[in-house]
Amino acid sequence: MCGIVAYVGERSAAEVVVDGLRRLEYRGYDSSGVVVSPGAGADLRVVKRAGKLAALEGALVGHVLDGHLALGHTRWATHGRPSDANAHPHLSEDGRLAVIHNGIIENYLPLREALTASGHVFESETDSEVLVHLIEHDFAGDLAGAMRSALRQVLGAYALVAMHSDRDEVVAARATSPLVIGLGDGEQWLASDVPALLPYTRRVVYLLDGDVAVMTRAGVHITDLDGAIVDRPVEIIDWDAEAAEKGGYEHFMLKEIDEQPTVLQQTLGGRFRPDGLDVDLDLALDPTAIDRVVITAAGTASYAGMVGATMIESLARLSTTVEVASELRYRDPVMDARTLVIAVSQSGETIDTLEAVREAKRRGARTLAVLNVKGSSLSREVDDVLFVHAGPEIGVASTKAYMAMLAAFALLAIRLGRGRGTLSDERVAELVAGLRGLPHAVEEALATRDRVRVLAERMASARSALFLGRGVNVATAFEGALKLKEISYVHAEAYPMGEMKHGPIALIEPSVPVVAIATASARYDKTVANLQEVRARDGIVIAVASEGDEVIASHADEVIYVPRVMELLSPLVNVVPLQLLAYETALALGRDVDQPRNLAKSVTVE
Ligand code: G6P
Repeated sequence: MCGIVAYVGERSAAEVVVDGLRRLEYRGYDSSGVVVSPGAGADLRVVKRAGKLAALEGALVGHVLDGHLALGHTRWATHGRPSDANAHPHLSEDGRLAVIHNGIIENYLPLREALTASGHVFESETDSEVLVHLIEHDFAGDLAGAMRSALRQVLGAYALVAMHSDRDEVVAARATSPLVIGLGDGEQWLASDVPALLPYTRRVVYLLDGDVAVMTRAGVHITDLDGAIVDRPVEIIDWDAEAAEKGGYEHFMLKEIDEQPTVLQQTLGGRFRPDGLDVDLDLALDPTAIDRVVITAAGTASYAGMVGATMIESLARLSTTVEVASELRYRDPVMDARTLVIAVSQSGETIDTLEAVREAKRRGARTLAVLNVKGSSLSREVDDVLFVHAGPEIGVASTKAYMAMLAAFALLAIRLGRGRGTLSDERVAELVAGLRGLPHAVEEALATRDRVRVLAERMASARSALFLGRGVNVATAFEGALKLKEISYVHAEAYPMGEMKHGPIALIEPSVPVVAIATASARYDKTVANLQEVRARDGIVIAVASEGDEVIASHADEVIYVPRVMELLSPLVNVVPLQLLAYETALALGRDVDQPRNLAKSVTVE
């Protein structure tokens, strides 16, 4: 949500910044802008445009934006619609100070009224613009000092970056919204996310809440809001630059779907004990010190949590519930020191998930994150982290991170079960063998693409679609429906299959295809009966079924066969054709697959 890029150094700063913004497009945005300092006290040069980056790049043609210091921003509108005026950077009235901001300034209205009363003239409808006026008001040659004094007056979340035509520096501050500095020799970068830095450097410093950083060509100087020096470690990013490139693919989403067998190897790699009877996850958690588990997350991560809950309950015999973070954080949940709260997140920056964890900690619960991004806010706030090692995920619609989360949950459930003595050697050996076979099974599931492409034609003309699943695959139905909605904009609804008769059955007609997870399971017969009920009402059934199931064809209009794996691990295989179905339907409808309308990859505001 919103992207920030800044640069100071010898290169053409505008080019570096626009390149960085392009690499952050996946975060979701609806306008963009760039400001360059030509140096020697000359006025700052700003170009900003509503719409996609192409509009900004078009507007930049013919502008001479020479300079070695620049800021760039992609804005996801909160206060004020996407327009040229509301796009960032915001300039001071004298044109010498520029500010970009991610987050929400909650007390902007009284601040704006007070500033207006003292003669400031506002040019946008944004909450962010108060920041430029506050800093301008306090600026007397010390930009970091003026920023600190402005920040003492605001409430809310921010990643804030400023520059002044008199100063050869970029000043940045953080509260809640992420910022990471890339270190170079005689040059430095700043961004809201690591992929913008990958082509240039692997040495990074993550800013923490309350930090104010001054970046010059010579280096970086970080203080707290009172001006006291703080020391932040330099970390080395182990993602390779190609991982964040399309690598010949038309879309990141398809590349990431195809990467899933490799991702599984990364998630599982090195985690099985040599005897194959347990897993090593490097957790401080004592599995016998907890009585129940609460899993919390948003979006796709919450569906991974649903699968995880079934795994943990089944293998570790721990009562486990799942609740979306935006609800959990505002309830009055019952939790204590024997409650394990598991936060699931790709980015580790989803504000609701972070706040739910903070609430759990206030109540004394133990916390663990199932997480992809190292160095993210969530990684620093929990007692234990289980990294899923999916690598950078750029497509807004999450695919490989979901796959990695499911595999990580299987490992966690085994560890908890082993630690609690609820799993026999035989059962563990069976699960470990099942997990080891998954990369190959997922590889085979990817071969459904041609079949799925044909079915996508039907989906593209559907009025709506129904996704049904049972047991551990209820989550697969939810994830399949979410993927379809997110990127093709075809309405889809997911239901536990047994609930169909209690409402959604009224929707069934030929223009509403029913996608049913009907792979081998202990409830297979019930599933078949439900499919009959759909077909008796002229419904069109697209079944995802296990290879070798010859019966299913007589209960479904279309069948997508996937490899047969153990039921508890089947969501990892079953989700693949549903990811492909969403992708192919979106393609058939000409949608923007990697940047679907209104969505953001990482939702950092409420
Ligand atoms: C947004 C994204 C989803 C993602 C969700 C949670 O809604 O568009 O793809 O599943 O946030 O994000 P997280 O980074 O916490 O997994």
